[in-house]
Amino acid sequence: MAAENKTFYLTTAISYVNGAPHLGHAYEAIASDALARFKRLDGFDVMFLTGTDEYGEKNARTAAKAGIDPQAFVDGNTAKFKDMAGYLNISNDDFVRTSEPRHHRASQAIWQKLVDAGEIYRGNYSGWYSVRDEAYFTEDELTKGEGGAFLAPSGAEVEWVEEDSYFFRLSSWSDRLLQHFDDHPDFIQPQSRRNEVTSFVKSGLRDLSVSRRRLTWGIRVPGDDDHVMYVWLDALTNYITGVGYPDEDSDTFKRYWPADYHIIGKDIVRFHTVYWPAFLLAAGLALPKHVFCHGFLNIEGQKMSKSLGNVLAPQDMIGRYGLDPIRYFLLREVPFGQDGSFSHESIVNRINSDLANDLGNLAQRVLSMINKNCGAVVPQHGDLEPADQALLDSAAALLPAVRRIIDTDLAFHNALAEIWRVVGDANRYVDVQAPWELKENDPDRMATVLYVLAETVRRLAILVQPYVPQSASAMLDQLVVAAGDRSFAALDEDKRLKPGTPLPKPDGVFPRFVDEVVP
Ligand code: MSP
Repeated sequence: MAAENKTFYLTTAISYVNGAPHLGHAYEAIASDALARFKRLDGFDVMFLTGTDEYGEKNARTAAKAGIDPQAFVDGNTAKFKDMAGYLNISNDDFVRTSEPRHHRASQAIWQKLVDAGEIYRGNYSGWYSVRDEAYFTEDELTKGEGGAFLAPSGAEVEWVEEDSYFFRLSSWSDRLLQHFDDHPDFIQPQSRRNEVTSFVKSGLRDLSVSRRRLTWGIRVPGDDDHVMYVWLDALTNYITGVGYPDEDSDTFKRYWPADYHIIGKDIVRFHTVYWPAFLLAAGLALPKHVFCHGFLNIEGQKMSKSLGNVLAPQDMIGRYGLDPIRYFLLREVPFGQDGSFSHESIVNRINSDLANDLGNLAQRVLSMINKNCGAVVPQHGDLEPADQALLDSAAALLPAVRRIIDTDLAFHNALAEIWRVVGDANRYVDVQAPWELKENDPDRMATVLYVLAETVRRLAILVQPYVPQSASAMLDQLVVAAGDRSFAALDEDKRLKPGTPLPKPDGVFPRFVDEVVP
């Protein structure tokens, strides 16, 4: 592929800003960031977008309850989401706020396109609406709660709404959507979600109410000041706002649209795989290549919720465990696409075994031995024995293996397991070769063994950058790898460590977690 064609556009969902971010939001940001970093390191021109979803009744009501003007309220919470991107070391290239003028412009433009295409008509909506989900439901989707109120599948109470409304002709897009799912089997990932969406579409789509008459907190419908847009129509549009829509001829739009991945949680699949592609088809725009639906994080086996009081604030967790350990834990422990559970015991276990004992200890013992026994320079190696070559070969085989895993189904947990298999090989090699025993009798062989190990650590450090960027960078600093030699292209043979390069005194990168002593 020509270098200029290697673009990669990925997005996260944009969060409602009716509160502060929690670990679920952090999880999505971290996983998306790992993908963005992976693709950059692999030579792609990446555009990584995130942002905030500031309209809708949910945000408006929470602001009213707090007695604060909605704009001031969302400004305050958006700042917390922006902060989160900073302290989680998220490498987003842009951040769209739906209250920004550029987003109003994009939303009104797509609306106008839909009107011009005859896809929007005026009608009357009467039916159920869940403010928490910002979604309409038919009666057969609801259940009765304990107090007799109707509940959406999420458990949120629904309210009866009856008002003039503009409708989008969603029902006419069923066949086209089903065709698209058939022609592009990996449009919706994982497969289980694709099956769920396919049966939803087959069960029959109804036209969608895309405006709200009684609300004022939203983007005005062009030409009708009495209506604001249904929040999901505007929110989904953020994905094209971020690449310059409505300027379809702009370089940015042409370069990045259609998106390669929308990364979202399993609760918002319908909006992204039915409504959004239907809006895009109706507006004559290309469809994103993949929508990946990740699972939900539970805390110690329980759903995270304000009422249970177990909502974890990402910054508290960083204070306790450190950022990279959290990033590693979430990506390694939770199969991407499935639900996962956060527990103190399991993160401590991952920190102490995978990070401290396996990778941390490998790097630390190799670098300390070089520091003490090889004059603190990259040692000169002699002829390689089969065991040396075997370790170097297994490290060299990692990039294609990991690339295949990421490109197929974003299975970060498998990519990390694969990398850690080589960490294990390297630790076994240290034990078998026992370089400390060679010091007196065979210093040349010791130098070769330590060279092979240092070179393996270099490769591992380059490969773990997407997941634990700060720690990987500290390891590469200790190996004196230049900033320009840290991409996956530097895994080529000719970028191997140069014997004689002076190395600084090593410093452990992954400390053990020692539980506080409870008095
Ligand atoms: N505003 C909508 C998305 C609009 S995208 C055009 C929304 N916001 S949200 O704040 O409720 O959720 C933002 C993202 O966080 C969603 O992808 C959602 O699935 C994800 N998560 C929210 N809670 C979560 C967990 N407990 N675990 C993992 N992800 C979770 O939906």
